[in-house]
Amino acid sequence: MLISGKTIANHIIDSITTRVHNLYTDKGVQPHLVVIQVGTNPGSSSYIAQKRKSAEKIGAALSHYHLPENVTQKELLETMDYLQHKTEEPVHGMLVQLPLPSHIDRDAVIAAIDPEKDVDGFTANSPYHVPVGDAVMYILATIWQIETQESRDEALYPLDERISTWLTGKKILVIGQGFTAGAPITRTLISLGFHPETMDEHTMHPEELIKNADVIVSCVGKKKIITSSMIKKDAILIGVGMNKDEEGDLFADYDVLDIEKVAKYFTPVPGGVGPVNIACLMQNLVTSAEKAAK
Ligand code: GUN
Repeated sequence: MLISGKTIANHIIDSITTRVHNLYTDKGVQPHLVVIQVGTNPGSSSYIAQKRKSAEKIGAALSHYHLPENVTQKELLETMDYLQHKTEEPVHGMLVQLPLPSHIDRDAVIAAIDPEKDVDGFTANSPYHVPVGDAVMYILATIWQIETQESRDEALYPLDERISTWLTGKKILVIGQGFTAGAPITRTLISLGFHPETMDEHTMHPEELIKNADVIVSCVGKKKIITSSMIKKDAILIGVGMNKDEEGDLFADYDVLDIEKVAKYFTPVPGGVGPVNIACLMQNLVTSAEKAAK
């Protein structure tokens, strides 16, 4: 069964749109996200376009600063400092779209984000959950609901004890441990008390791990890295990795028409984790604006 991320995302978007409306009516505050882009990574431009669309939908403001590929680290850090601390207009969230050009130290850039504005949840002291980790949890909660036919008030932040128990009985595998997806998803699962297995290009016997997993979260970004013959019957497959081929066409870690023969639940790419991820980012932004308005 295909699990639509768009439906889950719309549910989150509806609930935060109400919060944005109330914040504006009660306190005159509009949530404001600053997005900094460096260089010309084509993936970054399309991610940012989606963030803008989502911000518009909920009634938040998004300012996009596009710096040239050859900007120095010092200039980037100065721009970030200015936008976070020296403008009249309040900024409730700031993110620097990754990847960055190789001459820039990613960790130094992330560390320069004020934790209260770090709606990506990447800095050590950020009060926010990493959106992609939340997105995976929302998707699992939705699957739990379909599988058990139990009712919940809303498909919002999951861990209801019943979902925990259901998930604790399953072998979870996170494939790929990259900075923006695999690693934070693993951290989210561990912080919630689960014991996911992880896999990267150095893992020995990857076939065995994949075949034994009940839940696979695939964050690789390589075409058809998972096929129906590799997975367990009735596995749950959540696709995060995606990339573009030479023709510019988007592809995912698996082909839905192939894995649907064996997997019981799976998310499409695009239209799966992506929209839920962006809705969760907006949710963090709204929470930050609410805190600032108190
Ligand atoms: N590039 C790909 N995913 C992300 C993300 O979640 N945050 C940022 N800042 N850059 C990304």
